[in-house]
Amino acid sequence: MAMVPLFDLRLEDEDLDAVAETLRSGWLTQGPRVAAFEAAFADHLGTRHAVAVSSCTAALHLAYRAAGVGPGDEVIVPALTFVATAAAVIHCGATPVFADVIGVEDPSLDPEDVASRITPRTRAVTAVHFAGYPAPVDALAVLCEEHGIALVEDCAHSPSATLHGRKLGTWGLAGAFSFFSNKILSAGEGGLLTTDDDDIAESARRARSHCMTSGTWERHSRATDTYDVTGLGYNYRLDEPRAALLLSRLARLEADIERRRELTRSYRERLAGLEGLTVPFRDEQVVDASCYIMPLMVDDPTRRREVRRILRDEHGIQTTIMYPAVHELAAYSARSPDLVLPHAERAARSELTVPMFPHMTAEDLDRTVTALQNALSG
Ligand SMILES: Cc1ncc(COP(=O)(O)O)c(C=O)c1O
Repeated sequence: MAMVPLFDLRLEDEDLDAVAETLRSGWLTQGPRVAAFEAAFADHLGTRHAVAVSSCTAALHLAYRAAGVGPGDEVIVPALTFVATAAAVIHCGATPVFADVIGVEDPSLDPEDVASRITPRTRAVTAVHFAGYPAPVDALAVLCEEHGIALVEDCAHSPSATLHGRKLGTWGLAGAFSFFSNKILSAGEGGLLTTDDDDIAESARRARSHCMTSGTWERHSRATDTYDVTGLGYNYRLDEPRAALLLSRLARLEADIERRRELTRSYRERLAGLEGLTVPFRDEQVVDASCYIMPLMVDDPTRRREVRRILRDEHGIQTTIMYPAVHELAAYSARSPDLVLPHAERAARSELTVPMFPHMTAEDLDRTVTALQNALSG
């Protein structure tokens, strides 16, 4: 029985040609292809600046840093996210404050819970667009504005998704995107920071390469022949082969997402009303979402392990869990042992991610739905 994988990456000949051409050029570190990818991504998103970096974690770190987050500060983050959203806060010497999500039907950051956690030490709030569906950044932007704090968007799941027709990653001070292997636009590793703020962009550009006033490419192409260092920075650069791959794949991003939406609609139609299962988000949201994953909620969390086993062993369907609640992970529960966030904890115990990738076939989807019906009928 062939497995239906959770995710599968398929590259086209044009992608391979773009990478091969870059390797043959002999210039591999950040250079003209990174600049071309940044320009194309900024244009695609409708943002003034796109700063390519080595990961979304690096983009979050640079966004927090540029927002002035430092020791003694707090940043409010959702508990239902990948650990990177919170870890980047700690890398600034600040404290992540975990907030709850709305519920299993909408596992997005809850603005009301965020409001109740704002203190004089709060510097920023980070919204995560879970699974590629817009978090309520409209309400969060108003809240942040009222309190004079920064809104950061963790867009690791949501390239090209929109809320009220406006692209995610353009609602706050900065957006952070991921090009990790299993992401919608992937290059193995990579990330990018978006912003309309010239100072934030300049700060991120400098800090990604040791706060040097010019890079190796500028010196190679003789734009300058020396450099100064204006602060303490990092090596957060993206390299040229990845930029070439991303630029090539960006041309197909909308088509890839449209296919994900079709698959999502099909899943939603087929799973609607299946007893024991809640399909989060609403049908009307699919058109605005990037549909990164297909998240489901098992109504009785004590059955999730067995459901996963049946899907894997009896039907060859790979699944995963996104995510364990961050405040319950060992390193984080030690920081706030008494914290209880009922909706995030419920979602974390119920969530089951099933296969989703653009070239998934109708048969793959059919097998997954049948397996779920079978596993939940017992
Ligand atoms: C919500 C979220 N934020 C941040 C990250 C970190 O991305 P990267 O691996 O590019 O650093 C991920 C990656 O899985 C993620 O899912």
